[in-house]
Amino acid sequence: MSGIVQLAAPVIENVRLARDTYRVRLQAPALAASIRPGQFVMLRLPDRSDPLLGRPFALYDTAQDAIDVVYLVVGKMTSRLSNFRAGDKVEMWGPLGNGFNDLSGHVGLVAGGIGQTPFLAYIRHLLGTRGYGGQTPQRKAERVSLYYGVRTADLAAGIDDFRNAGAEVHVASDDGSLGYRGYVTQLLAEKELPNHLVGCGPEPMLHALSRLAKAQSVPCDVSLETPMACGVGICFSCVVKVKTGDTWDYKRCCVDGPIFDAGKLVWE
Ligand SMILES: Cc1cc2nc3c(=O)[nH]c(=O)nc-3n(C[C@H](O)[C@H](O)[C@H](O)COP(=O)(O)OP(=O)(O)OC[C@H]3O[C@@H](n4cnc5c(N)ncnc54)[C@H](O)[C@@H]3O)c2cc1C
Ligand code: FES
Repeated sequence: MSGIVQLAAPVIENVRLARDTYRVRLQAPALAASIRPGQFVMLRLPDRSDPLLGRPFALYDTAQDAIDVVYLVVGKMTSRLSNFRAGDKVEMWGPLGNGFNDLSGHVGLVAGGIGQTPFLAYIRHLLGTRGYGGQTPQRKAERVSLYYGVRTADLAAGIDDFRNAGAEVHVASDDGSLGYRGYVTQLLAEKELPNHLVGCGPEPMLHALSRLAKAQSVPCDVSLETPMACGVGICFSCVVKVKTGDTWDYKRCCVDGPIFDAGKLVWE
């Protein structure tokens, strides 16, 4: 657990990006200096016991001595957080998890629901426009494409951020109100696949992505959104089944993930 910082982080701003979707900027200099794309933080609201446990959120990006988290309001913690204002404090610990791999060539990022959040920092890292965790910026990938699926147009959050970061953005919506009508994996299947795929979103979407990648022999990583209680490997609430040889073993998503090789996961 070395290197994990825990603090009461002041909110700098908490702005609405889309329906039920906000970006909170939290002042945390040591964390902002060390966190890498694909890693996450646990957030907990102080001075209350409901919800008692922290919740995991991906790094959206760093901003000088602060970190940005983009969240969808789904339950008690996120709905209360949406009322936080500048100066309010949030308990935070991190950086947590393994982080994304360095990939070259054409990298395709595939997001569904709120699964776009880990990809902004990753795009900047891959294209070498920003360094994270004390690293000097260095270009890794030739091209980065983001395939982003939402249920409907007003849930799409951050598209301008991804375009401004240099990604080619392809959008799909279930109801056809934005971009391609249908699932993001259907949109992707109609394109020439990139050299690597990286997915984040609901499990059925990740499973479909993993099948598509396997059928076309394209390597695929996925970032799982498994519910977590501690985030630091103690409680085993976050286990997933990962293949090892002819069998499988439980791995803790918080410390062994959240990024896994899609081909090694046992999909239920
Ligand atoms: C590594 C990681 C990174 C994440 N990054 C983000 C992020 O950047 N932005 C974001 O908005 N969310 C993210 N999540 C999901 C986020 O942690 C949950 O949405 C959060 O727990 C909601 O808290 P809550 O108290 O508001 O709702 P809860 O009361 O915890 O849950 C409300 C409802 O959502 C369901 N639910 C909660 N978590 C999950 C889940 N992971 N999968 C399926 N159903 C769930 C519950 O069953 C319940 O129905 C991430 C999860 C992980 C594991
Ligand atoms: S969340 Fe506690 S072990 Fe992973």
